[in-house]
Amino acid sequence: MSAIVDSLAQANPAISELIAPPPAPKRRGTLLIVDDEEGPRMSLRVIFKDNYDLLMAEDGPTAIELAQKHDIDVAILDIRMAGMSGIEVLERLKYVRPDLEAIMMTAFETTDTIRQALRLRACDYINKPFDIATIRNAVSQAMQRRMLESEIHSSAEKVHELLKELQNQRVEEQIAKTRGDIYASIIHDINGPLTVISGFVQLLNKRLSRNTQLGVEDLEFIKERLRIIERQVANCIEISRRYLGFLRQQCDETAPASLNHLLKDLDQLVRVHPSLQENEFRLTPLAGSDGEICVKINGTDVIQILLNLCVNAFQCSPLPHRVEVGGEVLRTPLNLAELKDSPNDRLLNVESLNNTAPLVKLHVRDTGPGIPPELLPKIFQPYFTTKGPRQGTGLGLNIVQRLIKEGNGALHVHTQPGEGTTFTVYLPGAELAK
Ligand SMILES: Nc1ncnc2c1ncn2[C@@H]1O[C@H](COP(=O)(O)OP(=O)(O)O)[C@@H](O)[C@H]1O
Ligand SMILES: [Mg+2]
Repeated sequence: MSAIVDSLAQANPAISELIAPPPAPKRRGTLLIVDDEEGPRMSLRVIFKDNYDLLMAEDGPTAIELAQKHDIDVAILDIRMAGMSGIEVLERLKYVRPDLEAIMMTAFETTDTIRQALRLRACDYINKPFDIATIRNAVSQAMQRRMLESEIHSSAEKVHELLKELQNQRVEEQIAKTRGDIYASIIHDINGPLTVISGFVQLLNKRLSRNTQLGVEDLEFIKERLRIIERQVANCIEISRRYLGFLRQQCDETAPASLNHLLKDLDQLVRVHPSLQENEFRLTPLAGSDGEICVKINGTDVIQILLNLCVNAFQCSPLPHRVEVGGEVLRTPLNLAELKDSPNDRLLNVESLNNTAPLVKLHVRDTGPGIPPELLPKIFQPYFTTKGPRQGTGLGLNIVQRLIKEGNGALHVHTQPGEGTTFTVYLPGAELAK
């Protein structure tokens, strides 16, 4: 634990502040005094009124009512009281405020009663009549313990919050990294035709600088090269237009990307992806006008979702296997009753699904080993991975789930150990404006 805390402290200065020794208690504690005799009640008030915020009760029910309304740190309880005994009051107070510290005052109680009080987690007991030094000491120690405990409690909560924040930060970083990979592949795609263009421009320059006058053959040579350059420039424009389609936000903006466009881009990314290896990859575009539909979520997110699922599908077995991507458009809302959780099925994000037609249904299916039922509930947890540290971060499916949730979609997994796994993504669709 301390190594974790140390590294957290390095990463975030707020943590080193937090794990430093707790500072001296800043707030005045609240002390509840419960005694049915007026004399001792008044003496206690005089003794403590300058040090703590005081609450006074002359019987059990009043004490409990006060505990329900106020945050009490320490209570002094007389054991022998008319009506509800101090022990009973203690039991109920602990129920309302489990963390409060209690000091019992005893006159001539048996050891049994005292034992009972200690069992109920009274922290101390003093004899009546008490002397001032003893009771002051008992209350001050109980207060310190209480303050320390509440400091520890709030520190633990802060650590928990920071850990959550750190995890969110990691997920964001991973999303940004994959996005970076996608951008890199755009540059890679454009680089091909640019290299051709630059080569031919150099050739033309050379030919032109050799000749002061151009013959028919030279003109033919130049025309031919210019045609190639023109084709490659058109190629660059086409690539940038296509990617810009999915980089732009949503369907209602100009030039949104149709689903088949996105799938085509995915195809190109997957074909050069190192995890493809010896596996077979089949991507079937949506048939006919279904391919024209677009999804109401950022195109980069769709690519990121499908790419993560494809990479998992490739990595699920070292033996060559098949991975298929395809989809369809649903013209009616999803029948959620058909997609119940089972040892081999899991449905996620139902709460945030915008279940209105048209819905786009996309699947990534593999013929790998499947997911054992005992692991299926865990695979979406952040950092859960069955892969070595170099191959797995355990964040992929968490990101997939998060992006789908943000897009008001749902995700279904069906797996059959020994046969393979199908991840199905449902996303709200929109007809492409013509
Ligand atoms: N298609 C699949 N077939 C079998 N297991 C899978 C498949 N997809 C995901 N898993 C399991 O889910 C785990 C978590 O996946 P993921 O969150 O992407 O993290 P990572 O890929 O880094 O391990 C994987 O380690 C693997 O055990
Ligand atoms: Mg993964």
